[in-house]
Amino acid sequence: MTEKGLQDVVAAETRISDIDGERGKLWYVGYDIEDLARDSNFEEVVYLLHHLELPTRDQLDELNEFLVSEREPSPFLVSLMPTLAQQTSPMSMLRTSVSAASAYDPDGWEHTPEANYRKAMRLVAKTPALIAMYHRMRTGQETVPPNPKLPHAANFLWMLLGEEPDPELADALDVSLVLYADHTMNASTFTARVIASTLSDMFSAITGAIAALKGPLHGGANEEAMKMLEEVADPARAEAYVKDKLARKERIMGFGHRVYRHVEDPRARILRELSRRIGERVGDLRWWEISRAIEEVVLREKGLYPNVDFYVASLYHCLGIPHDLMTPVFAMARMAGWTAHVREQYADNRIIRPDSEYIGPRDRTYVPIDERG
Ligand code: ACO
Repeated sequence: MTEKGLQDVVAAETRISDIDGERGKLWYVGYDIEDLARDSNFEEVVYLLHHLELPTRDQLDELNEFLVSEREPSPFLVSLMPTLAQQTSPMSMLRTSVSAASAYDPDGWEHTPEANYRKAMRLVAKTPALIAMYHRMRTGQETVPPNPKLPHAANFLWMLLGEEPDPELADALDVSLVLYADHTMNASTFTARVIASTLSDMFSAITGAIAALKGPLHGGANEEAMKMLEEVADPARAEAYVKDKLARKERIMGFGHRVYRHVEDPRARILRELSRRIGERVGDLRWWEISRAIEEVVLREKGLYPNVDFYVASLYHCLGIPHDLMTPVFAMARMAGWTAHVREQYADNRIIRPDSEYIGPRDRTYVPIDERG
């Protein structure tokens, strides 16, 4: 019996993250996401996902030093960016840039665990600069060099917007990166692991993962959710808008989840509150209020809860992140999880090669082309 969409099929063993879809719980290496969102930060989570332990102060300092030293993209990528900024969408830019980054990685084609760890950390470190550089070039602004004094999330806002961010806004972005960093066998992580399982290289696996994340049923949903907030424009219009969409059998972006089917995504719970707090902070609660109104109608009419992508939309809008960069920012965070999964796959590999159930005709007789009616 084929399970369409591979629902409930266990495709790999992992020590990286775990979900209880019935209770609405998510853990990274055994640590509850709520504790990590409250007490940890993105860099520490990068360490955790890769080393399967929280770092000591010295270990975290060492990682931070490496990440900060690797923030600048290679001259090759810098030379490529003006064309990408003019010609491609943000996720296509990221996909192409990660693929192109392989040409200048100092570890080249070396495939040892140590080289793959360094490649992984370079990808984590450079992704914010790629997104920021792309945006500034396409809008005709000077690019902003990384600020070594700022942590990962704050440095991204600095490079993107060209001013040192309000610490509360930078912290909010950091929390969202923690929440986005990994999520078991989602479509993009599965893609990365399939590619890694052929013993293809880190850059190929991550390029594939970005391609999978791009779609609106996966990471692309945050940008689509923002479009919906703009279309609704007023909390009073949410009811009619949602009912109309459901009547036309259209999907409400940012709602529903393969794993959290009857409970709320624990990340959405944290993001709802964060989005409200940041909306208040920047004096613009409108997007949060529209989101709440939509959420109430979708739950009542369809029994669906928001997923991680829904409240990220209003949150990122208030952080000043352009709407079409919301999915690239998701990728920036998920880079931590993808690369950890690729390394885990390499460490205990067997090629991933599932089967298919043939449902076409059988035992047909070949008819030469001139005799076909
Ligand atoms: N809006 C309206 N109806 C929905 C939605 C939605 N967002 N999600 C599911 N449904 C309905 C389906 O139409 C279906 O209803 P039916 O039984 O009456 O036909 C039922 O719920 C089950 O849906 P499936 O497609 O079987 O659910 P599946 O597990 O395959 O899909 C998915 C999960 C892709 C997340 C889906 O809920 C969806 O399309 N959501 C909108 C896109 C989105 O927000 N994606 C981000 C997911 S989180 C992430 O990837 C980071």
